[in-house]
Amino acid sequence: MSAQLQPSSPIQVRSRGSSEYFQPRFLRNAWYVAMWSEDLKPGALVERTILNESIVFYRREDGTVAALTNQCPHRFVPLDKGKLLPGDRIRCPYHGLEFDGTGKCVHNPHGNGAIPSGMNTRSWPVLEKHTCLWIWMGDREPDPSQIPDYSVIDKADPAHATKRDRIIVKAHVQLVADNLLDLSHGIYLHDGLLANEDSANSEITAVEEGNCVIVHRSAKGVQLVGLHREYWPHDTYTVDKFSSIRWTAPSYLLLTQGACLPGDTRDNAVGYYGIHLLTPETERTTHYHFMAVRFNVQTDPGANDELSAKIAKNRRYAFAEQDAPIIEAQQRVLDSKGGKLNPTLMIVDLGPARCKRILERLLEQD
Ligand code: FES
Ligand SMILES: [Fe+2]
Repeated sequence: MSAQLQPSSPIQVRSRGSSEYFQPRFLRNAWYVAMWSEDLKPGALVERTILNESIVFYRREDGTVAALTNQCPHRFVPLDKGKLLPGDRIRCPYHGLEFDGTGKCVHNPHGNGAIPSGMNTRSWPVLEKHTCLWIWMGDREPDPSQIPDYSVIDKADPAHATKRDRIIVKAHVQLVADNLLDLSHGIYLHDGLLANEDSANSEITAVEEGNCVIVHRSAKGVQLVGLHREYWPHDTYTVDKFSSIRWTAPSYLLLTQGACLPGDTRDNAVGYYGIHLLTPETERTTHYHFMAVRFNVQTDPGANDELSAKIAKNRRYAFAEQDAPIIEAQQRVLDSKGGKLNPTLMIVDLGPARCKRILERLLEQD
């Protein structure tokens, strides 16, 4: 395997001094994807556990989103088991207290109706952007400009986008991010589907830009991989191919994967953007949101729906049936040692090593 190191600044790939594999806590002053926008229908109460906190989401009558700690302050019954009432109020299913979208109790059906002080549940800021609901669970003022740029979703022709999907991986978010940052695993876990033997012969570079790490892989004169042949417009399958995955702290990833005829410019490449948005549910479970958007494709319009469905199905299979079992097994080994294992690193770990360094710095400031 030829792997060329071209870092933007000197980097040492080495085992970290710390005996803890994971960061001790999650970054709180950051936006996390709670769910795809379309998964919160008007009139519905939807629960998501995020950073160990159960939260109930619903749409107000004006379409904006309320997010409340999913716990009635009376006797702690989850509010998502209750009912959404006119006027953006949520009614607890147990004794009927009602709360508004700020978490304030606004109605007590018992006695003289007085509302004891402190009868509130916490509300959380939510913004809707790039077809996602983003929640802020930090103590600092939420900064909308910190929502990462996923305008590729907004600009996409819907005919070239796969469905918005989600799985839960039973592992720490960092293990899932490491998996995506180091695409060398594709040859072994996704052979024939997302990668092939030629994928090993890639040049790898890792670049750090602010709170981002971008890992590039490229290879010339190699065979096009199975899934990409579905929309490849030429007769030959010998191509120049590239992938570039951008990680933005704490856990957003954007993959650009394309191929062109040998010697051709990348402007003529066809491929897709892989959107991967990771949100910690707990220390051992991760919400993994994903979709893909094809670029520069010239497929028959009548074939687009079927093609999108096929890509979505295969990618879900790759993540849920090929990646997740390995990541979860890795988690079990780490847990059996109390998380105190130091990995022995190699060149393919350039990206993950840099991300850990950025996360450590951000956690100190959090
Ligand atoms: S537990 Fe909610 S009103 Fe009593
Ligand atoms: Fe994978």
